[in-house]
Amino acid sequence: MDRPDYTDNTATEQKVERQEVPRPPPRRKRIIVAMTGATGSILGVKTLLALRRLNVETHLVMSKWAEATLKHETDYTGAAVRALADHAHSHHDMAAPIASGSFRVDGMVVVPCSMKTLAAVAAGHCDDLVARAADVVLKERRRLVLVARECPLSGVHIDNMARVTRSGAVVFPPVMAFYHRPGTVEDLVDHAVGRMLDLFDLETGDFERWNGFSRGTDDV
Ligand SMILES: Cc1cc2nc3c(=O)[nH]c(=O)nc-3n(C[C@H](O)[C@H](O)[C@H](O)COP(=O)(O)O)c2cc1C
Repeated sequence: MDRPDYTDNTATEQKVERQEVPRPPPRRKRIIVAMTGATGSILGVKTLLALRRLNVETHLVMSKWAEATLKHETDYTGAAVRALADHAHSHHDMAAPIASGSFRVDGMVVVPCSMKTLAAVAAGHCDDLVARAADVVLKERRRLVLVARECPLSGVHIDNMARVTRSGAVVFPPVMAFYHRPGTVEDLVDHAVGRMLDLFDLETGDFERWNGFSRGTDDV
């Protein structure tokens, strides 16, 4: 009787090669949007609208002062803005999924970002869900964009911007550009939001990119 040859693994190896490796189903791109109490709440609203159009899953957190500035600066209510996001979390909720690194996200944008929240992120002081989620994004080496708004800047602000930058965050002050000849405030906002989302490899298609001077009209 033929005895099995236990040293020949060819058949087993071929079987293993043919086996499908189980893969998790692909998920939508997922971004945390935090809004804090700096002026410019329309930037946060427009970011949510752009991400919705791009079919990105959004997790929104608004601080108490974000809601106050939103109400003062726009016709949006907090509820209307929360309705633009896939998920909205209370800034008190430290048990929200985005408070943990095991919940996978593609990044976070704090828009607008107050100097108080910038300081909290720089110090790793996680006293609310905005600061905690940002701290988690940094520790997981994921993309963190802080749309830090204050003018003029003190040495403390600049030091905090340097600290978060050294930890991997991108500080993106919402500074106006004029090379696209904006006609309205909306043009300026769309340009800022488009450049912000460039940092997540997302194309809003809402603004004109610089393509060099035009021949004839711009000759130097
Ligand atoms: C109308 C309004 C505009 C504000 N604008 C700014 C601003 O541009 N930058 C800033 O750092 N703080 C600004 N603040 C102050 C912040 O709201 C305040 O420091 C608050 O504690 C920030 O908390 P948060 O980061 O948790 O939202 C503003 C406050 C109000 C009421």
